[in-house]
Amino acid sequence: MISFSDSLALIDGEIRAIDYPRDPAGLYDPVFYLLSMKGKKIRPALTLLACNLYSEDVRAAVYPALAWETFHNFTLMHDDLMDNADLRRGEPSVHCRWNNNTAVLSGDAMLILAYRLIARSPAALMPSLLELFSRTATEICEGQQYDMEFEGRTDVLEEEYIEMVRLKTAVMLGACLMSGAMVGGASGEDCRLLYRFGTDLGIAFQIRDDLLDLYGDPCKIGKRTGGDILCGKKTFLLVGALARADAADRATLLSWLDRRDSGDEKIACFRRIYDGLNVVELAERTCLERYDAALGFFRRVSASEDRKAVLFGLAADLMRREW
Ligand code: IPE
Ligand code: IPE
Ligand code: MG
Ligand code: MG
Ligand code: MG
Repeated sequence: MISFSDSLALIDGEIRAIDYPRDPAGLYDPVFYLLSMKGKKIRPALTLLACNLYSEDVRAAVYPALAWETFHNFTLMHDDLMDNADLRRGEPSVHCRWNNNTAVLSGDAMLILAYRLIARSPAALMPSLLELFSRTATEICEGQQYDMEFEGRTDVLEEEYIEMVRLKTAVMLGACLMSGAMVGGASGEDCRLLYRFGTDLGIAFQIRDDLLDLYGDPCKIGKRTGGDILCGKKTFLLVGALARADAADRATLLSWLDRRDSGDEKIACFRRIYDGLNVVELAERTCLERYDAALGFFRRVSASEDRKAVLFGLAADLMRREW
């Protein structure tokens, strides 16, 4: 049986061992740059730990695990360009360190590398793993599109927000778990339960990401705080605030959302309104509800309780995370 830190050690070693091409450096350096940064690597860990619920041979799940981490980093390369975010994990994001075209093309190369990794999964599972991978990747594009479209709207409902984050963030966590379980030999029912565990956990994870974007410690989260406010993101906090605000607060939020010239003053104003409306408490409550729903699915998974304890522990750590 492996622990969370065993899974990270295995992944780190495997990432270093990947035989990526090096030339042209302008294409591949940004790929290495992102992959060698200190990320949490929860996605490959979920794949390996889900496999380990059913099998001692976690190495059989290494390629799907590497594929998810590579794919995740590809989404971050494009996401930072789309979100106009200058920092990623405390370092300049790829489009800032290089340029926009590099972020597009190195991102494309990274997506293809992710496909080459998933294609090295156990042969008997290839058709179903490829289908899961491709479906998930498409859903993430859909989620990112809604995320962008919501920037231009002020009437986003909480249900719409939840569906957007289910697509952009949560389905990948579900698919990471499901692919590991498939390699481990889980039943179809357990695969479905693990997928639901991952998606509800992923929704809670993204609500926490929204909270950290404003209230986190910039040294820990590795980016400036308030970035979501500056680009008009319809985060859980803003959707909640717009739903709860009285006429005056609503007018203030809407007038700021109309303005292009914005900076610290806008962030301070949003923060004051959020604090007055207790939206942090609302976000934490919703996060907890999703976490509880996630655990409900995971409890029904028919693997041994001592193996499940590792994933219960990881899920609990993610709820308390500060980065
Ligand atoms: C960031 O994911 C993108 C989101 C889906 C919120 P992580 O918070 O897992 O990023 P790293 O890989 O640990 O940096
Ligand atoms: C990221 O959401 C979702 C994907 C990359 C698909 P965010 O835009 O909130 O992630 P961060 O905050 O930049 O890491
Ligand atoms: Mg972003
Ligand atoms: Mg984004
Ligand atoms: Mg974010």
